[in-house]
Amino acid sequence: AVPGTAVTGAGGPGDSRLADGETEMTLTNRQGHPIRDNQNVRTVGSRGPMTLENYHFIEKISHFDRERIPERVVHARGAGAHGYFEAYGKVGDGPVSTFTRAKLFQEAGKRTPVFVRFSTVVHGGHSPETLRDPRGFAVKFYTEDGNWDLVGNNLKIFFIRDPLKFPDMVHAFKPDPVTNVNDPERMFDFLSQSPEATHMVTFLFSPWGIPANYRQMQGSGVNTYKWVNQAGQGVLVKYHWEPMRTEIKNLRQQDADRIQAMNYSHATQDLYEAIERGEYPEWELCVQIMSDGEHPELDFDPLDPTKLWPTDKFPFLPVGKMVLNRNPENYFAEVEQAAFGTGVLVDGLDFSDDKLLQGRTFSYSDTQRHRVGTNYLQLPVNAPKKHVATNQRDGQMAYFVDAGPGQNPHVNYEPSVIGGLKEMQRSGKEHQPHYDADLMQRKIERANDFAQAGETYRSFEAWERDELIENLVNNLKICRPEIRRQMIDYFTKADPDYGRRVTDGLADAQRESGEHTGSAKADQAVRNAQREGEPA
Ligand code: HEM
Repeated sequence: AVPGTAVTGAGGPGDSRLADGETEMTLTNRQGHPIRDNQNVRTVGSRGPMTLENYHFIEKISHFDRERIPERVVHARGAGAHGYFEAYGKVGDGPVSTFTRAKLFQEAGKRTPVFVRFSTVVHGGHSPETLRDPRGFAVKFYTEDGNWDLVGNNLKIFFIRDPLKFPDMVHAFKPDPVTNVNDPERMFDFLSQSPEATHMVTFLFSPWGIPANYRQMQGSGVNTYKWVNQAGQGVLVKYHWEPMRTEIKNLRQQDADRIQAMNYSHATQDLYEAIERGEYPEWELCVQIMSDGEHPELDFDPLDPTKLWPTDKFPFLPVGKMVLNRNPENYFAEVEQAAFGTGVLVDGLDFSDDKLLQGRTFSYSDTQRHRVGTNYLQLPVNAPKKHVATNQRDGQMAYFVDAGPGQNPHVNYEPSVIGGLKEMQRSGKEHQPHYDADLMQRKIERANDFAQAGETYRSFEAWERDELIENLVNNLKICRPEIRRQMIDYFTKADPDYGRRVTDGLADAQRESGEHTGSAKADQAVRNAQREGEPA
């Protein structure tokens, strides 16, 4: 197989010689031995014990025993597709080169191949796709300058702004470590101590928390990145994917429950079948641009991923569109083994000082070396579709030596004057931000945890607000009073009406359930609340 092409079905490395009597459809083992009996193991007599030298049996079973790799610690459930990105050659109405020298954006009509993986976040590899959960939206652009991964979600903001909190957050959202049962009280316990999550909670418990499928949802890079032009000047950017030729569609809780009762894989199936029908999903890529700096005039920090950038000040500027037009031929090879990371940028794109982004950037390739293996970048779905020449060698599952064509095979180091690889001259000017500050562990100033949550609450239509309150009440009613109290405090700070409606909803829920809720935990919560004389 040629690196960079899909490896599926027959046709691994080697030639196509056939043994006597063998055809191209003959079953073999991985040693190339034709299999003469794939139904019966070898035994002493037809009823006797098995013998240990059953090579075909042992190979078959021991490979099967190793068929699973660790699943992603988050975003385990996903679906993927191939396609292309087509640049508009401008950003909004202006030249894109003003802001970035990244080659994939420069020429109108220029196409770059992509692979996309959509996902849910919290639960395991076969969990239902109807859960209230953000959706992952990860895009790998195979550009002429190497790969660029834009690893985003459907929602435009995130729960937290400091990467140190991420493992705790994920533990709180995953099933209870004792019972292995999902428990909203653990989730809200964490959230009630994380006021910065109020904005994300407001989106997640509204109908925006369950996209109807992967085709009719938005995407966003969430974190703030930078664009860098030829002169080395940087601007701050946020990326957004807007679905084209279709509306955005979300599910109400009862619709999600109905679909879930019949189909655990409705979103994967929908994406696959749409592409097979030739209805190729499309998204427009838009950016919001802000000059590089602290922007003291704003009531939030531009590096804070819990915030939206107001579109009246920072409009969405289209830069190109993406079309998904080819299904994977093998789910495991292409989707399960795909590895995306926020560190994977090309010339003209850069990081900002968004702490969450910096923390993520360590995490992705670290987990992929564990999840897929040291040489995960040699797999066709992850390898760039361009010249690769490194001095990295060996390690588990090294599939080939990625040397340059003229490289002296004895020289796997740099610098060298006897035929080693050489560095390339920089083409544009380096972007060199200046730093002068004390080293510290500190929250950002302008945390402003509630104002945008209130704006988002007020921007919802009436039915969306109704759903939000109902969903929150259904989860909070089983939580202890101190958790409910803290959450209500946050909602009230976002908007007094928001806080009042959750308070009233919890009081109604208590009246309706009386002393008995059918769940020992919820009953305890009701009793706790009654002891404290407040709504359960
Ligand atoms: C997957 C870490 C925040 C989007 C993952 C994985 C890890 C991780 C370890 C599994 C990767 C793999 O096994 O290949 C983190 C950390 C975060 C963070 C440490 C914060 C500190 C975010 C945010 C977003 C996001 C803010 C959205 C913008 C995704 C997506 C995937 C993913 C889409 C799945 C990629 C795929 O389809 O393979 N994350 N994440 N993550 N994360 Fe994050």
